Amino acid sequence: MNSTSYTKIKGGNLLEGNIDVSGSKNASLQLIAASLLTRETCQLGNIPHLTDVLNMFSILKNLGAQVEQLDRHVWQVSALRVGERVSQEDGSKLRASICLLGALLARNGSAVVALPGGCNLGERPIDLHLRAFEKMGAEVNFSGDYVSLTAKDLHGADFSMMGPRGATVTGTANVVMAAVLAKGETIIRDAACDPEISDLCHFLEKMGASIDGIGTSTLRINGVTSLHGAEFTAQYDRIEAGTFFLMGLLCGKNLKINHINKYHLQGFLDYFGAYKKYFDFQDDFVVVNRCDSLMPANIVAAPHPLFPTDLQPQVTVLCTQAKGNSLVQDKIFPARFLYADELNKMGAGIVKRDGFVEIAGPKSLRGASVQITDLRAGAALVLAGLIAEGETFLDKVIHVDRGYENFEERLRSVGADITRVIA
Ligand code: EPU
Repeated sequence: MNSTSYTKIKGGNLLEGNIDVSGSKNASLQLIAASLLTRETCQLGNIPHLTDVLNMFSILKNLGAQVEQLDRHVWQVSALRVGERVSQEDGSKLRASICLLGALLARNGSAVVALPGGCNLGERPIDLHLRAFEKMGAEVNFSGDYVSLTAKDLHGADFSMMGPRGATVTGTANVVMAAVLAKGETIIRDAACDPEISDLCHFLEKMGASIDGIGTSTLRINGVTSLHGAEFTAQYDRIEAGTFFLMGLLCGKNLKINHINKYHLQGFLDYFGAYKKYFDFQDDFVVVNRCDSLMPANIVAAPHPLFPTDLQPQVTVLCTQAKGNSLVQDKIFPARFLYADELNKMGAGIVKRDGFVEIAGPKSLRGASVQITDLRAGAALVLAGLIAEGETFLDKVIHVDRGYENFEERLRSVGADITRVIA
């Protein structure tokens, strides 16, 4: 282990009791960016306490906004005045900093943001974001690691957000935030219709924006001259909920997962119809039990409402326990399989192909020292450690902190043998 802290898991325990899902990371990041669109105070609730969220708030502070934390999950933002430049140092901390482009452009008529780095999911271009901003009258320039936008007259336009791998989520969020204060009507076709985008649109409506088609892939936005402050509570994190659901199928014993919205996970849950006797949905919780007769699957991660790419690494762990050959494909991030090399150190026997993996199950996983390459890969390796024989040591566990609040503590509370070791 070569980093300052790592996580140790001793596999084999069945997990029992209550686990609460946190507020949505990806919805929160968009809501935080949107709070820059008004000079008045916004209050945001159910915001998870994660490094990505803290980094986003520190960027807002560096832009000149007043940020106050009222409670662990409640924040207030008053963006009386806002700068236009997000530094390389700030912007490189998280991908979602690119979501600030639209808000800054709408607020100031200009924005300078560090280009988001590529990461372990593969290329992370922003061409679709920029194409849309140009249609709305922005001039795009690149200088070094920065992209700068200026729009003396930001106006409505009619364009598509479709890319070679489906609609772009942060791209849709970006142009929605620009359009709500642009002159005239904007029609965003092939918009990402993820639930997190709906949260953003509902928050903007509370601030006085005019948006039709929320939840669909065509958004019609009539620009207004200004927005007022508002309060909003972020939805729960459907990706965390899905991760815990899979954990239940792997090693649950009446594991009760609170705050799961099954309508946000339809494309994911559709794959588990055959396992209905292992879980029971009530209101906003589900009780899940370990399934000892998992069958092989052919999983295709694709844009919402289909199977979420952010649950792709985690479901691959489930496939290693199925009796037969499974295939997991990712149409959004075809390179999002670095975690397979780490799972193979645990005996998963996964074969990597171009854009998909093949798994010949069942495989008895054994504990090993593994590297976490990105947030959801980390979640997958935690799931593998929970069912592996012996001890698993997860290096670079800070990746998991980006998307799962106090995850060791919460897993320990339902019986997992998991500890953070500060080396
Ligand atoms: N793409 C383009 N051009 C663009 C933008 C995207 O070709 O201008 C491509 C990407 O390369 C990718 C596909 O379009 O192949 C979808 O990318 P998208 O822009 O939707 O991804 P994102 O907005 O950068 C968000 C989430 C990700 C999630 C994806 C897909 C946030 C902060 N991140 O990323 O979340 O995987 O949508 O649903 O909202 C995570 O939480 O672990 C995570 C990676």
